[in-house]
Amino acid sequence: MKQLYGVIGNPIGHSMSPDIHNAALKDLGLDGHYHAFQVENDNLKDAVKGIKALGMIGINVTVPHKVAIMEHLDHIDESAKVLGAVNTVRTEGDMLVGYNTDGEGFVKSLRKILDKPVQDLSILMIGAGGAARAIFTTIVRENPKRFDICNRTLEKAEQLIQSSPSFQNKQVLTIKEAEENLERYDVIIHTTSIGMYPDIDAVPISLQRAANRAIVCDIVYNPIRTALLKQAEQKGLRTLDGVGMFVEQAALSFQLWTGQEPDIDKMRAIVEAKLGGKEC
Ligand code: ATR
Repeated sequence: MKQLYGVIGNPIGHSMSPDIHNAALKDLGLDGHYHAFQVENDNLKDAVKGIKALGMIGINVTVPHKVAIMEHLDHIDESAKVLGAVNTVRTEGDMLVGYNTDGEGFVKSLRKILDKPVQDLSILMIGAGGAARAIFTTIVRENPKRFDICNRTLEKAEQLIQSSPSFQNKQVLTIKEAEENLERYDVIIHTTSIGMYPDIDAVPISLQRAANRAIVCDIVYNPIRTALLKQAEQKGLRTLDGVGMFVEQAALSFQLWTGQEPDIDKMRAIVEAKLGGKEC
């Protein structure tokens, strides 16, 4: 029988998850289908019941349901507990278990271009929302040399940085302070929606003072080359675009459901083809 997978969110029409998951299922010869479901907040509980009732293998969860879904699940895995959000649900017997692959997905994509261990990195993150929490929480577990956060609203950055009390080498900065001290950092990670289509000329920070060794990462992937990444390229810096995190988190979900490893390069090519290397 064909197995059913999916993603729930709202809006969900532009999601590229069905494209990459269906391609991976086909590629590996697995008889399954992955569908995007638009779910209103008021229907979330019923939608979760539907996962069990329909015998689905699992689903991805995206905005705005990543936190709200937690109370409707039977068990929350440590990966989601520490992030306070779920992006993947897997049916395990008669239980629905929530996982989170976002932080690990980002770190996997980052590791591919790093030339030194995370322990030796001074990192700056711009933003303090859900994606930022996933990335911060996952990276500080590896004890980087330093991890600072700048954000428009300082209180939110403060809250996030305090959420890992055992990690000491950290500081909250205004965007201006971060710009003035940018030469400190080996890795600069942008996690807000600034620069996302249609506002494609917007940049979250000036890279004028970034060190030559810096790697600039943007989790925005529409467009793939954001104005921030273009600025970095003009300075000759190495860059990491948001497609990497997107496909790595998807691949980790896929592995949780099927036990098989999808071809990351093929997933990436599908996203690139769909975005056409430009915004849509
Ligand atoms: P997500 O879950 O996708 O990370 P979020 O939780 O809404 O989204 O977080 C959005 C992040 O982008 C926050 O850091 C937010 O800054 P504030 O904490 O000051 O709200 C940041 N952000 C969004 N739009 C922004 C803008 N126009 N200028 C500066 N920061 C912005």
